[in-house]
Amino acid sequence: MTAAGRPLVVVTRRIPSAVELEIAAAFETRLNPSDTPMSVDALKEVMRTADAVLPCVADKITAEVINTPGRKVKLIANYGVGFNNIDIAAAKAAGVAVSNTPEVLTEATADLAMTLLLMTARRAGEGERHVRNGQWTGWRPTHMMGTMVTGKTLGLVGFGRIARAVTKKAHDGFGMKVVFHDPLVAAGSLGAEARPTLEQLLGESDFVSLHCPALPETRHLMNAERLRQMKQSAMLINTARGDVVDEAALVAALQEGTIAGAGLDVYEREPAVAAELLKMENVVLLPHLGSATLETREAMGRRALENIRLFFSGAPLRDRVV
Ligand code: 8YV
Repeated sequence: MTAAGRPLVVVTRRIPSAVELEIAAAFETRLNPSDTPMSVDALKEVMRTADAVLPCVADKITAEVINTPGRKVKLIANYGVGFNNIDIAAAKAAGVAVSNTPEVLTEATADLAMTLLLMTARRAGEGERHVRNGQWTGWRPTHMMGTMVTGKTLGLVGFGRIARAVTKKAHDGFGMKVVFHDPLVAAGSLGAEARPTLEQLLGESDFVSLHCPALPETRHLMNAERLRQMKQSAMLINTARGDVVDEAALVAALQEGTIAGAGLDVYEREPAVAAELLKMENVVLLPHLGSATLETREAMGRRALENIRLFFSGAPLRDRVV
């Protein structure tokens, strides 16, 4: 608590200003107007001085940071649904609460998965570069042909909130057949059919879209062997987390023609992207834009604020991770 008796909340990066103001009205608040990424030392200083911290995916809240001697922080209110940036086991062991921001970014992230799917299928990134580079010589029947989306099979790896939103858009909007594999969901719904094994899903899908969390069990789920199980004509879409894909194996699969293309929003070593991918025309690369709409980023901030309010009023967290 500060001298004024209000908890001190540190927001590690700039978030939409309307929500910064709401947080500042409710708590003693330290914002980051210059939006400078926080070093490990800066995060440790936050741990020692604040009551709650609102970090983002780029802030690595490691065991070392959580176990900062003299730590004061009691709540890590993550800005994002994914929380692989936080060492959850260390937080649990230290008795530090963690919350996230589910639901509010479901539609935006599903939209971005569809954006990548359509861009990859229709060679939109390549086409845009072509026009901007002054290479377009005019319309011709065989120019830059892509592949149809309507009538094709979309395979979803994981069938949580975002995958279900993708199902509605792809099935109802684009006339796709949707199948999914999720070890926790046996029955199909929303027009999507369950597949008992990942291998079966990969073998029948024209597009494979990843919607599982980054966990030790899902690290490099899409490795060289799994990429080989995809159709040669298939395309991989990733709006989940970079480490679900073995990026080196993906580069090799694209170079060797094991699969036809990829649409990526997330990477193993963000913001670094494998140099080979940057040169490939059949790959669409976005800079982790899944939730990047003003409405969504404001809703994420409000959801994190709601969790902070609940925590300091002694009520149960709405989105408790630990
Ligand atoms: C966020 C995301 O931009 O919520 C997530 O898991 O990947 C993105 O929507 C990011 O987490 C912000 O911290």
